[in-house]
Amino acid sequence: MTVTHYQAPLSFVAEPGGVLQGRIRVTGDKSISHRAIMLGAIAQGCTEISGFLEGEDCLATLQAFRAMGVPIEGPVDGRVRVHGVGLRGLQAPAQPLDMGNSGTSMRLLTGLLAGHGLAAVLVGDSSLMRRPMRRVTDPLARMGAQIATADNGNPPLNIHAGHALQGIEYVMPMASAQVKSSILLAGLYAQGTTCVTEPAPTRDHTERMLQGFGYPLRREGPKVCLEGGHALQATAIDVPGDISSAAFFMVGASIAKGSELLLEHVGINPTRTGVIDILRLMGADIELLNVREAGGEPVADIRVRSAPLHGVDIPEALVPLAIDEFPAIFIAAACAHGKTVLTGARELRVKESDRIQVMADGLQTCGVAAQPTEDGMVITGGPLQGGEIHSHGDHRIAMAFAMAALAAQGRLLIHDCANVNTSFPGFAELARHTGVRLLTREGA
Ligand code: S3P
Repeated sequence: MTVTHYQAPLSFVAEPGGVLQGRIRVTGDKSISHRAIMLGAIAQGCTEISGFLEGEDCLATLQAFRAMGVPIEGPVDGRVRVHGVGLRGLQAPAQPLDMGNSGTSMRLLTGLLAGHGLAAVLVGDSSLMRRPMRRVTDPLARMGAQIATADNGNPPLNIHAGHALQGIEYVMPMASAQVKSSILLAGLYAQGTTCVTEPAPTRDHTERMLQGFGYPLRREGPKVCLEGGHALQATAIDVPGDISSAAFFMVGASIAKGSELLLEHVGINPTRTGVIDILRLMGADIELLNVREAGGEPVADIRVRSAPLHGVDIPEALVPLAIDEFPAIFIAAACAHGKTVLTGARELRVKESDRIQVMADGLQTCGVAAQPTEDGMVITGGPLQGGEIHSHGDHRIAMAFAMAALAAQGRLLIHDCANVNTSFPGFAELARHTGVRLLTREGA
């Protein structure tokens, strides 16, 4: 099963130096935006979303639910109205559902559809078609679902209709919010109780949002349990700014001398703030101002001032809480005095790219001593030279190196950046607005 994805190729040209200043609002949280569409679609009533991330990943989720008969208005300026069809109101899609680059869309939707009892085929772009799916299909099979993968456990996923699910007790072998969420969403449709235990805390937006939709669930330490068959009631969701997007600016403002930047209305859910903890351990000057709550999620304005950074041994407990921020954290480490050691982060090898290898290659191109290991990296900070970077279509690699130019001695030419639109449309303009010397160029 192949689907052709065409994107006009795009490169970043980042000139060295610059100072970051001003106050900005980054785009909406990707994880919360996905879940708002999914839960809104199977709720009763109309869910009004504001601050929705109009990036390609979340739009893939939105289109998938439209293709299953859910009336959705928008997005217009981050506003979306989802007219919920109820827990069992989705219609079988006529075509394969194209999840683009989005692992979250594919894994969460698989859980939801497995339980609903619809036949569907899920496909994605060349990166997603290489990502492991047995981590969700195995536990879902234990619940009674029938889902075929390719021989190697990769997509396409072929979900068969009509298999009633039973709740399970599942102890996850890896710390993954996508796996946890996929099983919980299947559990909405299962007979009896479904419980998931995680080996370390991961983002809990699914649990919070289910409660926001009035769905009863129990959380007991590392375990979360719910019973199938209750109804979700539509609600209003104000999506905060994405801390994963803010992270690039936190690192940029930390490494560019003389910077002071205010990032407004950023989600600071404690399962996501590992990046702040790690940067602070390295000596970063980051302050949380005006801490408040919006739609069941804590938010704050984040003030970052440049500061001299030093290398650290990154505590393994922080890894799942900063899992998407390592490309940016590696740039901070490259600009820090001394050695930074990351371990316990094998998951980075199965993200949109192999983020350990791809970041090590890019840093080495810049003359930085970056040694990849099986489950992490050892980076000794030092001067960054200019050079040509290959982001391998990974949005976060592209944005991390765009920020690296602030502390580099030469120009960085970053290839294959079109996928920045999956999570952070408008990144280049916003970066320029704050002081990054970043140009975009059509072509690979
Ligand atoms: C996500 C969970 C994380 C993260 C991804 C979004 C989510 O993946 O990397 O960008 O929204 O649940 P894993 O759960 O596979 O670690």
